Order: sequence, then structure tokens, then C-alpha cells
Amino acid sequence: MTMRGQWLKQLCGGLTVIVGLATQSLAATPSQTTPTRVGPVLVNVEARAGQDLSGAWHWSVDPYRDGLAGFHGAEAGPGHRRHDDVDVDAVTRANPQALYEYDMRRSPVVHLPASWISHDETMRYYDGLVWYQRTFTATKTPGQRAFLRFGAADYVARVYLNGKPVGIHEGGFTPFAFEVTSLLRTGENQVTVGVDSVRSADTVPPTVTDWETYGGLTRPVRLVLTPATYIDDAWVRLGDDGRLRATVRLQGTRPGDTEVRVRIPALSLTLKGRTGADGSWTGDAAEPSALKRWSPEQPALYEVTVEAGEDRLVDRIGFRTLEVKGHDILLNGKPVFLRGISLHEEELGKNPTRAMTPGAARALLGEVKHGLHGNFVRLAHYPHSEVMTRMADELGLLVWSEIPVYWRVNFARGETLETARRMLAENILRDRNRASIAFWSVANETPVSDARNAFLARLAADARALDDTRLVTAALLIDRVQEKGQSVMVVKDPLVSHLDVAAVNTYNGWYSDDALADLPGIGWRNDTGKPLVFSEFGADAQAGFHEPGLKRKFSEEFQAEYHRQTLAMSEKVPSLRGLSPWVLKDFRSPRRQHPVYQQGWNRKGLLSETGQRKQAFDVLAEHYRKLEARQAQPEQARAP
Ligand code: GCU
Repeated sequence: MTMRGQWLKQLCGGLTVIVGLATQSLAATPSQTTPTRVGPVLVNVEARAGQDLSGAWHWSVDPYRDGLAGFHGAEAGPGHRRHDDVDVDAVTRANPQALYEYDMRRSPVVHLPASWISHDETMRYYDGLVWYQRTFTATKTPGQRAFLRFGAADYVARVYLNGKPVGIHEGGFTPFAFEVTSLLRTGENQVTVGVDSVRSADTVPPTVTDWETYGGLTRPVRLVLTPATYIDDAWVRLGDDGRLRATVRLQGTRPGDTEVRVRIPALSLTLKGRTGADGSWTGDAAEPSALKRWSPEQPALYEVTVEAGEDRLVDRIGFRTLEVKGHDILLNGKPVFLRGISLHEEELGKNPTRAMTPGAARALLGEVKHGLHGNFVRLAHYPHSEVMTRMADELGLLVWSEIPVYWRVNFARGETLETARRMLAENILRDRNRASIAFWSVANETPVSDARNAFLARLAADARALDDTRLVTAALLIDRVQEKGQSVMVVKDPLVSHLDVAAVNTYNGWYSDDALADLPGIGWRNDTGKPLVFSEFGADAQAGFHEPGLKRKFSEEFQAEYHRQTLAMSEKVPSLRGLSPWVLKDFRSPRRQHPVYQQGWNRKGLLSETGQRKQAFDVLAEHYRKLEARQAQPEQARAP
């Protein structure tokens, strides 16, 4: 058993553990069919009572994990345990003999949420453990429950309250929460989080990706307060049978046989009933005739109130249907072409820290909606913050949401599958009220193998079990064959049979030495019978590097021509129903180290890292403006 396994075994007595690291004896083995259960969901967390713990936190770097295990791997002693509920300065004043080799309360302070890569220049490329701590004041109210809820922590988070371990979570991009009712005290409380960014061949994603690791607490931490019985999950949607359906799940002291009401005042609609013994209830009604369906052209959102016992949640939700029919993707029953772009969760600027604010999200998505005339975004390669998906709801952009099953995951390892299944469940349970989300993607560019096929088929089945109102997909690699002397791209991946839409990443002319003028001559064969989407294509360009003559790679002229010719190629693909070129904005990647053109940035953005538009931006914008105009004419909505 690894050192970490031993540590977890010591620590786990009585703890809530949400990791895939632990050995068999620790990890619960959920049944093969039902999706993995996650900890408290606390859906629509911003609408709940409690306090946002964003702001000043002390931090302390711990490269050798001294705060976890000390001399010869023994458990860390009092002089090293950063999570202890102790004021080191006071203790050492009272006992000058005492030895402490840390002092969180006098450690440097940073504003969270933010990744540690922006804490100071020594932290760029730091991969390891960092301790964060702050105090906050709370009042304990009898019968009230309390949770610590994290928007995300990259990669493994160990959480302590008032010196006591609360829980561990693995996964850098999805929310998690731990109940702390018994540990919370009236007055000053101390929360400590050890965040460890280290990945391995067994993690999700594995060590090597094409994006920078933004280690740390990158999304808000909240103290959430609920009644003794509370609404843990509430999902309100329009089924493709035209029924408006609501499912509510209560948790707490008395979840069963409790009255639940779901109201949409603007539609004078109320659904009500009583929960079953397991605390859940589902009710439905015919679609109100006055309901305006959500679409990119008309992103109608309704105020929805969910009440049960003493608990009450208010959210803004849109209603629409999505399905595939042959090669068509139907939104509200009408064929739609996805005019999209891919992007990473990285705000504009020279020194992003992955703290996505509504302003930062609007700046990025506004360029897609208004700059590119787009109606779709692929949020790659991991669940982006809820700020982003709610902004897509507001602005009217369809969303592709993905979990980081990226490149060479250890598909043969059971715990890795469980980690991926839990990430998928955490992602879907957080966002299934977001009308904008159209796709759950279970993977990106993963090599075909039996273990991989089974792994991803499992995830696809989980996604369907958790959500029957969206489409399931993955970004696949494409095969290139020669047929009668012509290059033909063929979708051969066996995983397609488990997907609703076949999406492929294609880089002819960038990662191949095809002449750009030859791209439109490359053939495409899609025998899957399903809609095809180009989930990625792109070329790097250093903003401002112009070479109209030579048009070398990395020049804006090359990038613009690359997009022109690839779009021309796409217009010849009959089953194509969408595009999400790679990528909206240059983003950080440790793999990209050309000293002149890259300097640690992937430069395939149509915008530079500061938002400067490159020539290719206008090429795509013009293409989408024409498509948008064509799609506005009903009878021609089919092919581009
Ligand atoms: C891949 C991959 C991206 C990567 C891109 C690139 O297809 O999915 O994560 O950044 O290609 O090479 O730029």
C-alpha cells in the first residue's frame, strides 16, 4: 500500500472520503449500473443561507508534505500540523521551549479564490501541497445544519475545521461539500485546506496535458447553513415528451413524507406532492402554452421556486428540448448548426489565475456571441465554473461540458474509473438546471482500446442515467485513409455507438504538412448515421507577427488562411452540424516553449491572451455571420 494509502487509512477513521486514490479496502465500490453517488450536492448553492469565505487567507507551501507525514514518514507532529487549531505565537509565548516550524496565522496572505501560480513568481509551475487557512465567525443555531462547500480545488483537497479532519476530495474542477454541523462553533472558527496539485498516471487528467495546472482553491469556498431537513437537489426541465418535470431530493432528519412545491409564477404553474421514504419526489405537468422555450436567439429564463419544509430555493431556469434525428441536431424540434469555439477556463490578461468572475466570463463569452456571431461554446477540457455556465444561460450560448478524461488515462484501473464517474456525477448534478448545456462530453482524444472503450461506455451510460434531456458525446481522434488517390477522413472509433453525436478533432495543415490549398480537397466519410461536429481544428499564430509573403506557421496570415481553407473543407461535409475551432484565446501550456512565438502559451487563439483579435478571428466571424443569416431562413437551416 502506498504511503498515501497508509495516511488515508490512518486519517479515514470516521471521515468522509471522496477519492479514487485509496486502496480497495477504503473506496466503496458502487454498483456497475447506478451512477456513482457523490457527497452533499447543495444544488444552487449561491441561493442558500451561509457565508462566502472568499477573501484573505493565509498560505504556506509544503513541498515535502511535512504537514502530513514527518520524520521517517511517521504522522506529522504538533510542530508541523498546519491544520491544528492553535495560535502558535501565543503557545510559544506561554511555553518558550515549544518548537513550531510553521505559523499559519503569521504566514503570508492572499485573496482567494485564485490559483497559487499568481501568489508570487516562485509559484509558477509549482506542483505539490499548499496549506490555506482563515478564520471566520459563525453562530450555531439549534437544529440548523452546516456544510463547507468548495466550488473546486485542484487537485486533491484535505479539509479541516477547528483542527479536526472533515474530508478529502479528489478532482480539480467539480464542487464538493462536507457536513460540519458537529464541528462548527459559535464565535471564531478556523478552516484549513491542504491542496495538492500532483497528478499521476492514475489521476484524471493524468500528468501530461496541454494546459497549465492552476493549483489551489480556484473557486469560492462557502459555509452553507440549512434547516435540519433541506433540499439537497432540485432539477426542473422540459422533457422531449413536452412534459415539464421536477425532481426534488431532500436530505436531513426527516426527508420522507414531506410536502414539496415547485412554482413558476410567470407561468402560473405549481407542481406539488410528497416525498417518498428516500426523500425524493418527481412531479410533472403539460408544457404551459405561454412558455417561451430557451434558445440562443431567445435565452428566456424563468424564476423557479422550490419549497419543502423550512427550506426554500429560488433559481433562474430556461426550458428547451434537445435531440438528434439522423444527421440533425434538433433544438426545440428545429435543426440547429453549432457556430462555436472552444475555450479554456482562463480569464483575459497576461497573468490569469483562473478566478472566473461574471465580468471575466462575460468578456470571453461576449466575444463569442457578439464578436464571432456564435451560438455555441465547447468548455474544454474540464467543467468550468458555474459562473461560466450561468453566463451562457443569460447570453444564449449552447454549451459543451466535459470531464478531464484526457489523452492517456489509466483506463484499466478501477479507482480511476470511479474517480471519473464521480467527476461526471458532480458536474451533471451541479449544472443540469442550466438550459445552455447541450452536451455532456466524457473524453478528449483518448486512444482506442478495449479498456478505454469499456471505461467511456460506462461514463456515457452514467450520463444518460443522470440526465435524459441532453446529448452525450466525446472528442474523438479521426482516421485518415487513401481512397482512389484521395485522402479521406473516416470516423472509425467504436465508441460512437455509445454517443449521440460524433465529434472529431482534426488538424490537417497544422499537424500535417498538407498545403492549405489542398484542405478543401480532403474527403470526409461519416458512416455512423449520427451528426458530425468538428470539436477542434486550429493553428498557432503570434499576435502581431505578420508575414504576408512567406506565410510561415505562427504568422497571422498562415492562421487566417488555415481557417479559411478548413472552413471551405467543412462546407463539403454533408453530415456536419457544428464547429468548435481550437481555440478562442491563447492559453498557458507548459508544452509550448518556442522562444519567439509561444513562451509557454498555446497560440491557437483567435484572440491573444489580452484579447487582441488576430486576422483569423474575422475569418471565422464572417463565416458565422453568413451561416447565421442562412439559418435565419427556415428552409435552409439544414446544411451550412
Ligand atoms: C489537441 C487537444 C488540445 C490541444 C490541441 C493543440 O487536440 O485536445 O488540448 O491544446 O490539440 O494541440 O493545440
